[in-house]
Amino acid sequence: MTSTAPPRTAARSRQGPPLVVRDVDGPAEMADCVALYERVMGLRPGDGSLNPRLLTALQHNSGLVVGAFLGDHLVGFTYSFLAREHGTDGSGRRLYQYSQLAVVAHERQGLGIGRLLKLGQRDRCLAEGTTLIRWAYDPMQTRNAHFNLDVLGAVVDTFKPAMYGTSGFGAATGESTDRFIVSWHLDGAARPAGPAPEPPPGGHRAGEVYDEGEDRIVVLPDDWDRLRAETGPEHAARLRGRVSRTFARLLADRTAVSCVRLPDGLAAYRFIPRAAAHGPTPRP
Ligand SMILES: CC(C)(COP(=O)(O)OP(=O)(O)OC[C@H]1O[C@@H](n2cnc3c(N)ncnc32)[C@H](O)[C@@H]1OP(=O)(O)O)[C@@H](O)C(=O)NCCC(=O)NCCS
Repeated sequence: MTSTAPPRTAARSRQGPPLVVRDVDGPAEMADCVALYERVMGLRPGDGSLNPRLLTALQHNSGLVVGAFLGDHLVGFTYSFLAREHGTDGSGRRLYQYSQLAVVAHERQGLGIGRLLKLGQRDRCLAEGTTLIRWAYDPMQTRNAHFNLDVLGAVVDTFKPAMYGTSGFGAATGESTDRFIVSWHLDGAARPAGPAPEPPPGGHRAGEVYDEGEDRIVVLPDDWDRLRAETGPEHAARLRGRVSRTFARLLADRTAVSCVRLPDGLAAYRFIPRAAAHGPTPRP
């Protein structure tokens, strides 16, 4: 626990208690976090999990465990730990929080709670003088991408193919655990997100790339889990492999700044030249 009172953020819901974003406090609330995590991620025996002792240890040692509460009821949380950049020449070794996870209860998703949670995490970082948060996410999960890039204003730094191995867990078993690493700059330098892509000109399908001036637009399904369920895991794994090669190529000199839903079950990433990306502006 910190010695000074950590920031709390409150937002009034239409009915019932206000939503409060604050540090998770004590073993019972840490256990609530673990239970919520397992529920939201649909973990099965053998998938591995968190435990309350780990969260407590992180919180006591420069990590953050921030929860969203309706009254006493935990409806979301995020946790992170202090990390240091690897500088090749001893320079640029700044500190940041690496955020391992953010979850909101299924029945409360899409209501703005995740955004308030991340803003609470941001406030906790700024209070401690940390101006950068990084995390990883599966680039095929385009709603998460939209949340990270458009809602929060993070930018994609790097691509880590098979970050946790060549096979994921749960429904993603058998699919490579490819991840984008995003940076969320909290000191608010402006960066252009660019306009939302127009619906792709006729005939574009998931996996294809097209040009909009200097930008590259990558078309994906708007719901990866549905695609896997409808077309089968082999098709999903093949498409992932193909798109991953595209991502690796584009990220050599570009960065992704936006991912939006398009008609017809599609979504699209916008990659802009790195030189044009100066830093994010979170959506007000
Ligand atoms: C990602 C997550 C934390 C976002 O929290 P949230 O409370 O649903 O997000 P918000 O309501 O603040 O923002 C919703 C925005 O994010 C997008 N979003 C991302 N995932 C979403 C989801 N599962 N349900 C609804 N919206 C989602 C929406 O498109 C929406 O954008 P819009 O406002 O432009 O329409 C939450 O959906 C979640 O727990 N998902 C499952 C766990 C997960 O994948 N976590 C991230 C990787 S660790």
